[in-house]
Amino acid sequence: SIYSRIIGTGSYLPPRRVTNDELAAEMATRGLETSDEWIVERTGIKARHFAAPDVVASDLALEASKNALQAANIQATDIDLIIVATSTPDMVFPSTAAILQNKLGIANGCPVFDMQAVCSGFVYALTVADSMIKSGSAKRVLVVGAEVFSRILDFNDRTTCVLFGDGAGAVVLEASDKPGILATELHADGSHVDILCVPGNVSGGQVIGSPLLRMDGQAVFKLAVGVLDKAARAALEKADMQEADIDWLIPHQANLRIMMSTARKLKLAPEKVVVTVDQHGNTSAASIPLALDHAVRSGQVKPGQNVMLEGVGGGFTWGAVLLTM
Ligand code: ACO
Repeated sequence: SIYSRIIGTGSYLPPRRVTNDELAAEMATRGLETSDEWIVERTGIKARHFAAPDVVASDLALEASKNALQAANIQATDIDLIIVATSTPDMVFPSTAAILQNKLGIANGCPVFDMQAVCSGFVYALTVADSMIKSGSAKRVLVVGAEVFSRILDFNDRTTCVLFGDGAGAVVLEASDKPGILATELHADGSHVDILCVPGNVSGGQVIGSPLLRMDGQAVFKLAVGVLDKAARAALEKADMQEADIDWLIPHQANLRIMMSTARKLKLAPEKVVVTVDQHGNTSAASIPLALDHAVRSGQVKPGQNVMLEGVGGGFTWGAVLLTM
């Protein structure tokens, strides 16, 4: 086989859904002013899900993985590689992928590792999985994006705490003779570490530095709109395809304005953009596989259609994956 193909998708959202009004009311008790109107107008977000305090990323990953395995009609034991994209791992180590392998009941030797590329994590993980399948070192890969971003939010910072949510999405990628992933394109620019980071770390038995997310929203916005259409075009070029060949654009779900601006630059009608940011908020590495699974299950994305996935996030990292479903 010379291709890798997605043979099943799955996702999971923790049950607690918090609307903008609920969040605003809760923030008001701490003297922070915000509104549904402000959040919707600037970001398109209407609600997000937050995991219960005892729920970790691997718990969300497990539910999403089970759904993807079921959709692919295979057993967990059929998987020979697990990659989990996350910036909110269960532990410093071992990897969330190792913990997930055990929770899936397949702690039997298949390789596992985490991918750290923040909101580009899923696009990075899918690219690596595709390469490992093409090189012959894996046949059926479970690729997961799972995040509990609520754990690293500063709920006293109204400029960030309204933007993010928790969730997980997963796909099973299989070696195939039929085309699936057509082209991948990854980039990073490490000179922008400061505009989006959780600077803290564990050292000497303590957390050194802040364990909470901080972001220069406008700087991130500018960088994001500047790189996403270029990455998508580079992927199209590699596959010898045109913008008009894209049936669906599934961008990282951070901000509706960034998503629609990218679509405009790619000359794609707004109807071709899969939007879940309104209901999920920004779930970082989980946002793309969550959106993909919702689009598959709602009947939007159909077999044989061309889908452009695009990620952008901390690092600064960005990239695109062009595939046929
Ligand atoms: N409610 C009400 N007012 C607010 C809020 C809030 N929650 N947050 C900020 N404001 C105020 C600001 O204080 C500011 O007030 P001022 O004019 O009196 O100073 C005003 O609203 C405008 O703030 P801006 O920051 O200029 O608003 P902007 O239009 O840039 O929107 C936003 C901010 C939504 C963060 C936007 O910049 C953005 O989406 N940036 C990209 C973020 C992103 O995509 N991040 C994820 C990257 S992926 C990853 O790796 C995690």
